[in-house]
Amino acid sequence: MLGRLRCPLCHAAVLCRDGRTVRCRAGHSFDISRHGHLTLLSGRRRHRGDTTEMVTARESFLRQGHFEALRSTITAFAAEYAPRQTGLVADLAGGTGYYLASTLDALPAAWGATLDLSAAALRRASRAHPRAAAVGADMWQPLPLASRSADVVLNVLGPRTPGEIDRVLSSDGVLIMATAGAEHLRELRSRLGTIGVDPRKADRLRHAFEGFTEVARQAVRWRLALGRDQVRALVDMGPSAHHVDADHRDRVVHQLPDILGVTAAVDVVVLRRDTTRS
Ligand SMILES: C[S@@+](CC[C@H](N)C(=O)[O-])C[C@H]1O[C@@H](n2cnc3c(N)ncnc32)[C@H](O)[C@@H]1O
Ligand SMILES: [Zn+2]
Repeated sequence: MLGRLRCPLCHAAVLCRDGRTVRCRAGHSFDISRHGHLTLLSGRRRHRGDTTEMVTARESFLRQGHFEALRSTITAFAAEYAPRQTGLVADLAGGTGYYLASTLDALPAAWGATLDLSAAALRRASRAHPRAAAVGADMWQPLPLASRSADVVLNVLGPRTPGEIDRVLSSDGVLIMATAGAEHLRELRSRLGTIGVDPRKADRLRHAFEGFTEVARQAVRWRLALGRDQVRALVDMGPSAHHVDADHRDRVVHQLPDILGVTAAVDVVVLRRDTTRS
């Protein structure tokens, strides 16, 4: 794994591990936490990633299987489109490593890394799978991965920088990306008064990934039937947690029927770098 990383400060290959410290050739050093994740940040951190409360809510919600339809689509795409000799699967903004774990089950010779900013998420991600590591990294900075190091990049409902994905993907590598569709969680959004998905998002994504070819696409649509505790967890684990205060959330949840039907709509695409580029 260390051979696929690079120093976030000088971009040299991260070469050696000495106990709980990893050093690059130039002598920059980075700590491995007692929970097992390695933090590779350049120091210019303007974001923090998800809070412990958000991560706890997401872990509990995902464990109940509500996003299984999405997970099985991602896993099936990985099994079908990953290069035959897949080494590294990098899950960018991978949270608790939920999708990485099932992807690694489908690719028995591969190993994986969850990259995320949230220390609470990384603690879980470092235990997500026996073949998975967890790395603290900021998606808005150059990634601490060597060029052409990842055979599969996952990016599920999280921030991304297309230029960096382009740099780190191996020549026959694939990006499996999941983004919220316009109707995603609309029953919740209308009640909470939070903003929806930008209608121009599909165009923006197409433009951002112009140098890529789409090899597969699936519009995953399913219905969630949620009790009040599950609705609360869904609100707390998503981006609304940053914008909705707890009193407002509780008032909305209190007025809900015992079981609320919620639309889930996530678009999954598989992209490959254009073959005309090296
Ligand atoms: C909606 S969650 C998705 C997590 C995971 N992919 C999943 O679907 O379970 C978004 C994730 O992005 C992470 N995140 C937010 N901003 C980030 C940044 N600038 N760099 C790295 N990770 C970030 C959060 O900590 C969180 O884990
Ligand atoms: Zn360095």
